[in-house]
Amino acid sequence: MDINQSHSIGVFDSGVGGLTVVKELLSQIPDAPLIYFGDTARTPYGIKGPDTILRYSIENTKFLISKGATIIVVACNSASSVAPEKLRNMFNIPVFEVISPAVELVVKITTKGRIGVIGTRATIESRIYEKMIHNYNKDFKVIGQPCPLLVPLVEEGWLKARETKMIVRKYLRPLKQQQIDTLILGCTHYPLLKDIIQQKIGKRVKVIDSSSEVAKKVKTYLKLNNIVFDNKERPLHQFYLSDISSVTKEIAIRFLGQKISIKKAISAL
Ligand code: DGL
Repeated sequence: MDINQSHSIGVFDSGVGGLTVVKELLSQIPDAPLIYFGDTARTPYGIKGPDTILRYSIENTKFLISKGATIIVVACNSASSVAPEKLRNMFNIPVFEVISPAVELVVKITTKGRIGVIGTRATIESRIYEKMIHNYNKDFKVIGQPCPLLVPLVEEGWLKARETKMIVRKYLRPLKQQQIDTLILGCTHYPLLKDIIQQKIGKRVKVIDSSSEVAKKVKTYLKLNNIVFDNKERPLHQFYLSDISSVTKEIAIRFLGQKISIKKAISAL
């Protein structure tokens, strides 16, 4: 058994949204030390082109490795849609992303092979979910819907606002018309709207949250590789952001459900 205190899981996202993935990692692998980097200075990624997102992802990974990360989790869907393969080739360390775990689950549980995916423009335009799902079954129909207004609504804390419900309903309408049986939440921010999304899409549609799926994947990897964190005390987690504004801490608490001490990542970019 590799009782190795030097292993750390580095998680990056375009901002604080990736804390939904951290929340799952903390609950499923509580002993693992985490290093989080949120690129708040350059957020959002979801409206940027693939080359820019890839460049940022490489820089973010370098930063996490410089802080001691030995395993990388790309928590951002927009980055996961363009960067993982390149990161694996460049850095030669395990790189997890949030797309394939959701895909593996959806292909198992879809009943009619009609799958909806919601995400940022970058994620939906990459058609990554469609490509991955078609690797399992070409007959599955994948309907993507970009939902660009949802990220700012979540960051503003409008989680239960009437306006948010109306916008969610409008975004989901085409997916409802296509009679999807499963819906993937393809963005870090959407788990915070899961109840509204479930309500608007209807209770017969299964809603999949990639954050819990990627945490399961990492947990399995650690087990298969006999990596055990023998922490006598609580593991030390580190949270870095490339920009800290007056509302950052408040938003971070909303995503993580607990207070954290955040450091500015001066050397990141
Ligand atoms: N983290 C991004 C994602 O999951 C959402 C926020 C952004 O656009 O940067 O795609």
